[in-house]
Amino acid sequence: MNLSIFGLGYVGTVIAGCFAKAGHRVIGVDSEPSKVSLINSGQSPIIEAEIGDILRDAIADGSLRATGDAAEAVAASELSLLCVGTPSQPGGELDLTYIRRVCADIGAALRGKSARHVVVVRSTVLPGTIENVVVPALEAASGKRAGAGFGVVMNPEFMRESSAVRDFYNPPKTVIGADSADDAALVARLYEGLPGPVIHTAVKVAEMVKYCDNIFHALKITFGNEIGLLAKAAGVDSHEVMRIFCEDTKLNLSPAYLKPGFAYGGSCLPKDLRAMTWFARSRDVTVPVLNAIGHSNTHQIENAIRTILAAGRKRIAVLGFAFKGGTDDLRESPVVTVIEALLGKGCELRLFDPSVNTARLVGANRRYIEQHIPHLAKLMVASAGEAVADAEIILLGNINTAYHPALKSLTPAQRIIDLTSSGHHPDTSAAYERLAG
Ligand SMILES: NC(=O)c1ccc[n+]([C@@H]2O[C@H](COP(=O)([O-])OP(=O)(O)OC[C@H]3O[C@@H](n4cnc5c(N)ncnc54)[C@H](O)[C@@H]3O)[C@@H](O)[C@H]2O)c1
Repeated sequence: MNLSIFGLGYVGTVIAGCFAKAGHRVIGVDSEPSKVSLINSGQSPIIEAEIGDILRDAIADGSLRATGDAAEAVAASELSLLCVGTPSQPGGELDLTYIRRVCADIGAALRGKSARHVVVVRSTVLPGTIENVVVPALEAASGKRAGAGFGVVMNPEFMRESSAVRDFYNPPKTVIGADSADDAALVARLYEGLPGPVIHTAVKVAEMVKYCDNIFHALKITFGNEIGLLAKAAGVDSHEVMRIFCEDTKLNLSPAYLKPGFAYGGSCLPKDLRAMTWFARSRDVTVPVLNAIGHSNTHQIENAIRTILAAGRKRIAVLGFAFKGGTDDLRESPVVTVIEALLGKGCELRLFDPSVNTARLVGANRRYIEQHIPHLAKLMVASAGEAVADAEIILLGNINTAYHPALKSLTPAQRIIDLTSSGHHPDTSAAYERLAG
């Protein structure tokens, strides 16, 4: 394909060289003449393993050239890949100056172009930037409409500096966010033959995924570092601890616990986090990320309470109030905290949880219920159907297929608020809302 690549920094230079090597005809565009001349003389404007040879060969065989002229580059290409910087402003807000300018340049060039052109954003931009900044800027400058007049695709870049060329050939994944299947397919052709999944999704999801990745990487580094501080204070080898931690690919390095939903609870996580953060305080070890976990969890509970009260209905059925489905353990269940707050605000509640009901009957958890939550025991009913019968709101507190027949019987006047945010529920006429997005 004929590609124009806007911005010859770390991302743009690497992909310009690698796409040229893959057989595409590439024109690199940069507003800095020194970078244009460096590339045209077969030299790299960045320090990065392997890229020097790739650029030299690509310039020599004519598959790559650079220019400062955006109009010429757009005219000679089907795809424009945007790799300009999106730096931080002092307050953290994105500086979109370069994105706006490059969209104005490409848009102006599109005015006189009749063949279809697709603009592919590779820069990291916040969700909504394509819709609210990129598309309006391109439309204003081109006089054309996005979709009919030109395509816009979000294709975030996941390479890392110092291993960028290797990452290009071994991407962890390729993410293509587009409204048009044809435009998405065109972009996917660029990555044919490369390993890793090619994931097609919505534009805003593609914008957000990149942030999700980088924030998680920052969190992992910080987590490892804070564990390192605690291990040192305990006289333990932190590398041995984390080596063993990483061997667990079922619960630790895995999709487990990564679905947005509701607060954690139960008899272990809150207690063990408290013990370790107490240990840190007692040894004068500063672990702000570990300390923040409990606060964040409390905020999740408060958010749920606010969301439910904001619905302005008082008759509430709770299906599931043990901290997860299939257990009768009510210790530190965040759903119990929600229930108590709602009772304090004058709501009328009916509670059902099959595991808790059984435990109560057979007496396994009876003492806990009678001693700690006798006020809740009175609100428990014998079936999910009985709980939802007159309810205006149905709170799903944990996941259990035992609730499905009752959920199927709901009417459009009733509303489900799913704290688990799982989406696991049968067809129901009631309105359904997940606590998480
Ligand atoms: N650096 C990385 O490892 C990396 C990895 C993944 C994603 N990203 C993202 O990719 C984007 C680019 O990052 P980078 O590190 O390559 O940036 P960079 O600052 O190294 O390069 C940006 C280039 O764009 C050029 N430019 C600015 N305005 C222009 C215009 N109107 N026309 C043409 N060129 C113009 C600049 O002169 C510069 O050469 C950022 O959004 C970044 O967050 C970077």
